[in-house]
Amino acid sequence: MMSAPTNIVYNVKKLDQVPQGSPPDIPKLMPGGNYIRIGKDSAHSTCILFAPPAEEVGILAKFLAIFKKHAINLLHIESRPSAKSPDNCEFMVECAASQNLGAAIHELKAISEYLQIISRDYKDNKDSVPWFPRRIRDLDRFANQILSYGAELDADHPGFTDPEYRARRKYFADIAFNYKHGQKLPHVDYSEEETETWGKVFRQLTTLYPSHACKEHNYVFPLLVENCGYREDNIPQLEDISNFLKDCTGFSVRPVAGLLSSRDFLAGLAFRVFHSTQYIRHPSKPFYTPEPDVCHELLGHVPLFADPDFAQFSQEIGLASLGAPDEFIEKLATCFWFTVEFGLCRENGDLKAYGAGLLSSFGELQYALEGTPEIRPFEPSKTALQKYPITEYQPIYYVAESFEDAKEKMIKYAATIPRKFGVRYNAYTQSIEVLDSKPQIQRLVNNISSEMSVLIDSLRKM
Ligand SMILES: [Fe+2]
Repeated sequence: MMSAPTNIVYNVKKLDQVPQGSPPDIPKLMPGGNYIRIGKDSAHSTCILFAPPAEEVGILAKFLAIFKKHAINLLHIESRPSAKSPDNCEFMVECAASQNLGAAIHELKAISEYLQIISRDYKDNKDSVPWFPRRIRDLDRFANQILSYGAELDADHPGFTDPEYRARRKYFADIAFNYKHGQKLPHVDYSEEETETWGKVFRQLTTLYPSHACKEHNYVFPLLVENCGYREDNIPQLEDISNFLKDCTGFSVRPVAGLLSSRDFLAGLAFRVFHSTQYIRHPSKPFYTPEPDVCHELLGHVPLFADPDFAQFSQEIGLASLGAPDEFIEKLATCFWFTVEFGLCRENGDLKAYGAGLLSSFGELQYALEGTPEIRPFEPSKTALQKYPITEYQPIYYVAESFEDAKEKMIKYAATIPRKFGVRYNAYTQSIEVLDSKPQIQRLVNNISSEMSVLIDSLRKM
């Protein structure tokens, strides 16, 4: 049975199953920006963002007295200029879990100009927004939130009884666990046996790409051969791939130590960051893998992230996921599954594959295009509800007319997600801007208007 590898976790384990003994990771406070510092117990703490009505001496003491009154332990306090009213300041406090929190928030709300709750335990409070990364370096937090460590293998994994393979998996997991944004991606010396496994997969799949892969994949693949060492006798390095993608679309890759929750994985896409595995499948079964591996990522995913329209489509799914309620995360993950993982598209009337699960599986790639699966048009509101198997070929595939068309549909679908704010990725600061106030919207309008001037000027010169 051929599996359908994906980078998203569907059978989510509890966060408390994360291996113990992980080194503490307390990020440094960065000046300015929308940086929400996460404390030691961030899985259970709640961040409250509030602004006093007007600046007055000692105003913070008045607010802190409320926390004291309700015996709420504060893990962190931060003040900064208000994004919503430039002449004022706002405070962010991180509170330890407490039964009295609701009462304290009620009191705070009554005397605040505005108040927002950001919490990982947000289901406890229907007014809160789930925490999400605001700056690209916040993605470092995900290393401590993996749902299982990369060295843990299920009993039916081909490498389960192979101590050498397990040690290798731990090596890769440790690289990813210790990786921090901005660092060079560590160079990996792949063994002869690992390179041989890669070569078998590479040789087999590249015979199908010219006839079965979409034109975007076929356009980029030779560039990866030229720039990133894509060859049957060489497993390319993530650092080279990440640099190549940055030049093409601003996408980058970072290693991942284990399984991420759908919410965290999708959040990475909002920053044009793709979490990639670096290990390779077990040599005993070169054409089978029960999980994503370096063949799946590098042959299936990477070429498409170099395409501007596809990159934007992927980012739209990521942006839609930020702060979205759980049921919509599941729907977005399903859209991701039927597009980025198993999507088909139409080219001059013919079906072609662009999904990484297809482009990294010789058998399913043939089956999807030559077999008798059911084909339906990609329509996010309907696709998002479709159930699917994860350990066998897909009975249904969804077809995108173009990445541009799929992107427009995703944007419209994202607008139906109940969120009290809009989000926008600022590529200059590599951060997410939450748009929920007049001054922020005004700044955005000014930016668009200056971009429009450039556009009009360019059109005149043509
Ligand atoms: Fe994948």
